[in-house]
Amino acid sequence: MGDRLDQFRSNGRVIMLKNDVGSNTTSEEDTLDRRNFLSLATWAIGALISAALGIPAIAYIVGPALQREEAQEWIQLGSTTKVELGTPTLFKTKIERKTGWIVNEEELSVYILTDNGRDFVAMSNICTHLGCRIRWVADSEQFFCPCHNGVFDKDGGIVSGPIPRPLDRFELKVEEGQLYVLGG
Ligand code: FES
Repeated sequence: MGDRLDQFRSNGRVIMLKNDVGSNTTSEEDTLDRRNFLSLATWAIGALISAALGIPAIAYIVGPALQREEAQEWIQLGSTTKVELGTPTLFKTKIERKTGWIVNEEELSVYILTDNGRDFVAMSNICTHLGCRIRWVADSEQFFCPCHNGVFDKDGGIVSGPIPRPLDRFELKVEEGQLYVLGG
């Protein structure tokens, strides 16, 4: 940067020395570079350690909350004796849904249909268009969706409206006179 004048006394005389400051500046710059490098290295090592410890911890805490438990189980609906022959009969029950740490209780509604009292069909009461709840209209013997006038027949087949597919069905079993559907 520039020259620096140093002075000292020798035998009563003041001797002025002219030093080239450039060499000192270079060593200061070296020191600064070393300090910068050390602090950068320290920061990088700290960041690596934080990431190594932090990512698994975050995954442990947040991971389960993002997972929806898909395991299905048999859900008991009720007695077969409640089903009217030839008429879809609505069964309602409560189920628990777990999403990570959160457990929600939901209502499950299922229409059960049998024509002979032995073979049963379980149909969802959720419209396959946009998910509104359908209802059985005894007079017309059809399911009706109030949202966009979708109509399904007794077996859940499409009659009219914007519905894209028949009503969804549940896997069903009967044990000791009790109806169960597979869900979760
Ligand atoms: S939601 Fe049922 S017809 Fe649109």
